[in-house]
Amino acid sequence: MPSVLFICLGNICRSPTAEAVFRQKAVEAGLDVEIESAGTSGAHNGEEPDPRSVKAGKRRGYSFDGQMSRQVEGEDFNRFDYILAMDSYNLSHLRRIKPAFARTPPRLFLDFADGVIDRNVPDPYYGGNRGFDDVLDLIERASEGLVAEIRANL
Ligand code: 4NP
Repeated sequence: MPSVLFICLGNICRSPTAEAVFRQKAVEAGLDVEIESAGTSGAHNGEEPDPRSVKAGKRRGYSFDGQMSRQVEGEDFNRFDYILAMDSYNLSHLRRIKPAFARTPPRLFLDFADGVIDRNVPDPYYGGNRGFDDVLDLIERASEGLVAEIRANL
């Protein structure tokens, strides 16, 4: 089964949203995919997703049930086929901590978003509520590209 790990900083806003959206998109596409998310920081370990992310996502029909923040670990680079960072800051962090002989190089999630020029999902944590909808727009677009990629590689 293909496997995907979404990564942001705190694992409470962007990557939980990516997990929720992509889980739904994969089901709709009839794809069996193992999906998790994690943060490069462990500051929010054990916390549920940010209520603002949950509210914005639920309005579009996505479920965040059972999600809990955790920090990325070395073993993840062998467990997952895709390790997808929400922005270039977190991508460089992942490149620094990837064990030398681990299998999967991290990439930017928005590399799969057709027509999106800035490949960073903006951090909504300190912004207003609109930021959470912008995050969803970008993540929905990248999720469609990732579904196509996984289907093409089955
Ligand atoms: P995330 O957002 O990386 O999308 O989960 C953030 C969550 C928490 C913090 C920053 C960004 N923080 O500084 O605590």
